[in-house]
Order: sequence, then C-alpha cells, then structure tokens
Amino acid sequence: MVHEIALTIKPTMKCNMKCRHCFNGDSLNGSEMLGIKNACQFIEAACREYSDVKVTFHGGEPTLAGNEFYRQVFDFQKQMTDKYGAKFSNNFTTNGILLNDGLTELLIANNALINISFDGPYNDFLRQKSGQVYERICRVKSMGGRVRAFCTVSRGSFEHLPEIYQWFNERKIDFKILPIEPRGYAAVDRELLMDTDKFISILTDTYRYWITDKACNIRFYTFEEFAALRRDTQFKPFWFNREIALNPDGKIYPFGRPNDVQFCLGEAADSFRLSVCFDSVEYNRMLEILGKLREKYCTDCESAGVCNGVCICMSYMYVQDDALLRYSCYRSNRIFRAVLAVNDEIMEDFRRGETEKYSDIIKRKFAGSQRTEG
Ligand SMILES: C[S@@+](CC[C@H](N)C(=O)[O-])C[C@H]1O[C@@H](n2cnc3c(N)ncnc32)[C@H](O)[C@@H]1O
Repeated sequence: MVHEIALTIKPTMKCNMKCRHCFNGDSLNGSEMLGIKNACQFIEAACREYSDVKVTFHGGEPTLAGNEFYRQVFDFQKQMTDKYGAKFSNNFTTNGILLNDGLTELLIANNALINISFDGPYNDFLRQKSGQVYERICRVKSMGGRVRAFCTVSRGSFEHLPEIYQWFNERKIDFKILPIEPRGYAAVDRELLMDTDKFISILTDTYRYWITDKACNIRFYTFEEFAALRRDTQFKPFWFNREIALNPDGKIYPFGRPNDVQFCLGEAADSFRLSVCFDSVEYNRMLEILGKLREKYCTDCESAGVCNGVCICMSYMYVQDDALLRYSCYRSNRIFRAVLAVNDEIMEDFRRGETEKYSDIIKRKFAGSQRTEG
C-alpha cells in the first residue's frame, strides 16, 4: 500500500481580494461552490488507499465556503480516522480577510497550518487591506495557531529581500517566499516581474546571510528547503501519483496549486478510488506530454538530477506556453546552481570542523558532513 497522498481542495475559485499578480486571473474566477458531499467523497476515496492524507484548502479564497463547511469537513475526517485509521494533516491558504475567530479555532483544533498570504512591508504593492491582514496574523498567533506568511516577491519588493526577512524575524512570523510567476494577471502586467539574474543574486546573498544569522528565531521555509538541497538528492521526488486536486465543479484534476483543468481525471462520487484517476487515459496522456517536455528541457540541464524536471511540469500547469517553460527552467537551474554552490562551501567548512559561524539550524542540517576524527 502506498502511504502518502496530497489532496488540494478548492471550495471555490471566487475571491474577495483582487491581487494584481493572481495566477488565476479572470478566466479561472468562477463563482461555483464545491458541495460538502463531493469534498467528503474525495476525502474518503483517499482514505481507502492511503494512510497519510495531507489536505490543502485553497482556491480562490477558501474562507468564502464559510465556517460550517469546514466544521463538517473536519468532523468527516474524524469519522475517516475511525473507519480507516487515516492520519490527516491540514493546510489552509487564505488572504486572511474572512478568517474570523470561529474558523481560526476550528483550524487550530484540527492542527492546521494556516498560510496567510502577506508580503510583509511591501504588501501594498500587490494586495490590499494590509493593516487588517497583519492584525489577523497577530490574532491567529495569539490564539496559538500555527501560522505561516506566504510572501510573494515581485518587482516591487525583491530588492528588499534582506529587509523583508528582518521584518518577519523581528515580528516572529514564520514565512515562505513565492517568487512571482508570469501567469494570469502577472503574465499580462509584466511590470510586476523581476529581473531573474538580479533576483537570484539577491536571493543568494540573503541565503548567505541567513545561514550564519544566529538571531534568526523564525522558520524561513524557503531557506530551510535550500539548506536541505544536495547534489545527489532529488528535490521533489514526491510528485507524480501523489498530488491531486478537487475543484469547485466536483471534478478531479492532476496536481494541486495550480492544477490543470485540461486533464479531467474523474468526478468525486461514492465508492470510487483515486488510483483509477492515476491509471486513467488522461493522466497517462499528461505524463506523456510532460515526459516529452522533460526530454526537451532537462537533457542538457545541469540541475536535472536535483530538479527532476519538476519546474517544467509545474510551469506547464495552467499555462502551456514555451516562454514560461523556458523562464521557469532558467530560473530553477540558476537557483539550484547558486544554492548548491553555497551548500558545497558549508559542507567543506563542516569537513574541516569550522562550524562556529553557522546558525543552529545549519549545524543540524549539515551535521552529517562533519569530519570524523581518528
Ligand atoms: C492564488 S492564492 C489562493 C489562496 C488565497 N486566496 C490566498 O490569497 O492565499 C495563493 C497564493 O498564490 C500566490 N500567487 C498568486 N499568483 C501568483 C503568481 N503569479 N506568482 C506567484 N505567486 C502567486 C498568492 O500571492 C497567494 O499567496
């Protein structure tokens, strides 16, 4: 039996904020709402075949489904644990506007990681209602919630990445950066996009700073992932046959955020199995297309062993555009090269026993590279 599955549930594609860069754009902004029955059928399908079920609620804006929807979903998860022994981990990605105390309590009671989209001191550049969202983040934290800011970096902010890191660190808010992608609105408004080489240079400098920053008292998820990168390890081995999404129309699509409505793998229904989706003609058609793209882009790419073509596959979702694939491949390759070069230096220092300057998290992540005496 395969153990892990990652589900994305999009209760609606509707949103109550108009972010300038949104990858959903107008075309994916329908007002349809997912029925609770379909959500439960999808969850039960996962529990029939997998023991560890990760669920991410996304959209659109998932809070628009209302508190009662989530109360029922979480009650149903408990029933599934009793029936199949399934273990759940939940993620909830929101703009925070409608995240009231009731919903927050429900999410906390179900140990959900609450991702609130917020770009720190540069939030006004892409989004609205910055003060209100910041207050929500503080409120969720004070209620004991596990909160992480999803910070999109774009032309309006990327040059200030060190300052953004300090801003989150001073306020003890864990965060992750999402480099802007030319999809949806951001594909049209190219003024929002970053100069890739400049971005990578600033990203690498900030990473260098972070690895020795003993005053870091938050989780900076992006850099923690960087610190785990090794030349002989695939970055995201857990991808094919493991990520699947349910959209508001009750239909099932490959991967998660974004997913691809080009390949419909079935519909949530009683007693169906997710393996049928992964065995479907459509899933295999998609694998064939992605296989060809990976042959084209990955063959001469020096980061292929680490990247495994995931950047190409992810870029293909929503946007079947050669320019985006090239952009994504170029950017990922450059990031992998830059980060792996820094990690090589860290490993060399650890081999020589020169670990003093590094932060505790780096000491833990690179402990295996330490020289062994005698
Ligand atoms: C699409 S929203 C959906 C969930 C929810 N409404 C929210 O605001 O968090 C999820 C995240 O994707 C990010 N995002 C949207 N468009 C993007 C783009 N073109 N490039 C990078 N990140 C993007 C948003 O900034 C947000 O943090």
